[in-house]
Amino acid sequence: MNPKLIVGNWKMNLNPAEAAVLLGRLEEAVTVGDGVEAVLCPPHISIPAVADKVDRKKFKLGAQNLHWLDHGPHTGEVSGAMLKGMVEYVIVGHSERRKEHHETDKVVAKKLAAAYRNGLTPILCVGDNLHEREHHAANKVIVDQLTGGTSQLTAEEVATLVVAYEPVWAIGSGNFADLDIVRKMTKTIRHTLEELFGEMCGATVRVLYGGSVVPDSAKGYLKIEGMAGLLVGGASLNYQQFADIIKAAQNLQS
Ligand code: PGA
Repeated sequence: MNPKLIVGNWKMNLNPAEAAVLLGRLEEAVTVGDGVEAVLCPPHISIPAVADKVDRKKFKLGAQNLHWLDHGPHTGEVSGAMLKGMVEYVIVGHSERRKEHHETDKVVAKKLAAAYRNGLTPILCVGDNLHEREHHAANKVIVDQLTGGTSQLTAEEVATLVVAYEPVWAIGSGNFADLDIVRKMTKTIRHTLEELFGEMCGATVRVLYGGSVVPDSAKGYLKIEGMAGLLVGGASLNYQQFADIIKAAQNLQS
């Protein structure tokens, strides 16, 4: 059985000292178990503090963003070349970046290419907003984001891609998505990548759900056919809740 991937996105929270405290609490609360790969994504500034202390048998690390170039005059940016060696994963195209930083699918495509160029596994976020869902455009939005976002990748790269389905209306709102919606979208994501890159990619790509996940709702999503794991925001800042979500995944796998 493939391990479930449980990713904690700390967003713009926790300075290096605070991040080290949360890491310590998480390491006490989580037992190493087969069947789950747990990933912590601190803000860039706190990655070194976590990378220095983390027990890599318990947690892998990810970044929340990267620039599409490796070096140069890009004030305030961090590149894949800089993250390489400290993290294994990088979140790309989160809806908060699409909205607040106007990241288009073209930018997302360049960032995915930069992640692979630097040996990082990208977690590509896709999601429909409420207006799109109410106007029956959710599927098209997801297909367009996947098609545009992966436009610079090879089939070999896409085979190792992680895609997180994160409906914008479910993020940080407490309005988590119905299992049925997530089930359908998981199929759509696999089917789209299969059409674009061949059968192997549709089968091996890991699809996650994200949006207001808490321990009580985690199991339902994890049981969906083809669901590889969860991308957790708010609940990943609470060590007990994040540990309980990891435990829910471990229990399903044993
Ligand atoms: P949330 O965030 O769990 O707080 O809704 C999820 C995400 O944005 O990745």
